[in-house]
Amino acid sequence: MRKKITIFGAGNVGASLGQLVVFSGIADLAMIDIAEGIAEGKALDLAQARPVYGSDSKVIGGSDPSLTRDADLVVITAGITRKPGMSREELLETNAKIVGQCASAVGQYAGNALVIVISNPLDVMTYVASEAGKLDRRKVMGMAGVLDSARFRHFLSEAIGGSVKDIQAMVLGGHGDEMVPLLSYAVWQGEKIQKLVPAEVLEKIVTRTKNAGAEIVSKLKTSAFYSPAASAFEMIKAIFGDEKRLLPCSAWLNGEYGVKGIYVGVPVILGSAGVEKVVELELTAQEKESFAKSCQAVRSSVEKLKGLKG
Ligand code: LAC
Repeated sequence: MRKKITIFGAGNVGASLGQLVVFSGIADLAMIDIAEGIAEGKALDLAQARPVYGSDSKVIGGSDPSLTRDADLVVITAGITRKPGMSREELLETNAKIVGQCASAVGQYAGNALVIVISNPLDVMTYVASEAGKLDRRKVMGMAGVLDSARFRHFLSEAIGGSVKDIQAMVLGGHGDEMVPLLSYAVWQGEKIQKLVPAEVLEKIVTRTKNAGAEIVSKLKTSAFYSPAASAFEMIKAIFGDEKRLLPCSAWLNGEYGVKGIYVGVPVILGSAGVEKVVELELTAQEKESFAKSCQAVRSSVEKLKGLKG
């Protein structure tokens, strides 16, 4: 039977991801957006591209949350995005309500679906989704590490002057100002990049990676979308193909890395069951410290949100 993907939020990220889903033919697609007509219109547009794409993905769209019925995988992109000068944290309260509503619909209509959250602040919204939908925590994950790592790899490839395909590198921690690009694991075909590129250049790349989302917002006046959509699609392929990819995702921690009770970016094995395992890498003392700081930032946002609700 064909798989079904639901995308909540038919804005820039949702529509770009929808296009990848339909173009690839990986699954049928339901697009849902509270803004009347938007999801329906974009779904019609995508459906009419199918003969050109040569894709048999069925596409539906609308505002009714029940369109998500029996989805195998749900992606939540709904919410407001940053404007120039805003941090992801400033979206907390508004997006918690929106993401909560989407997740409740998932709980009601597609309780067995795997869920990928993209709305910001990412790690907290992933938590909100699992709580509001009463979903299995290992079936809910956040997309940020693949995106932050892609940005890191892009900048490293420019410094090396080589292909992005030959560069492996990861970013861990929360998807915020305290994210942790791991220089110690950055390699160019097995060679440590720290041996190839001067430390001061790498320092600049680390800073630019952390600010890459904000850099785009400052130009575009809204959030990035091609690279977030591509990153979510990478996760979808890993899940539907049961690829057991080792990818950084925001995952529920229950003692791994000495952290309990929050979602935060860590390397995981991603397969048909979702987050199948959290992989514990050995980190340098400095990376450990930065990771702990990043986890603390995520935890205090979760506490803040609980305070707002209480
Ligand atoms: C970014 C948004 C998607 O990092 O958080 O561009």
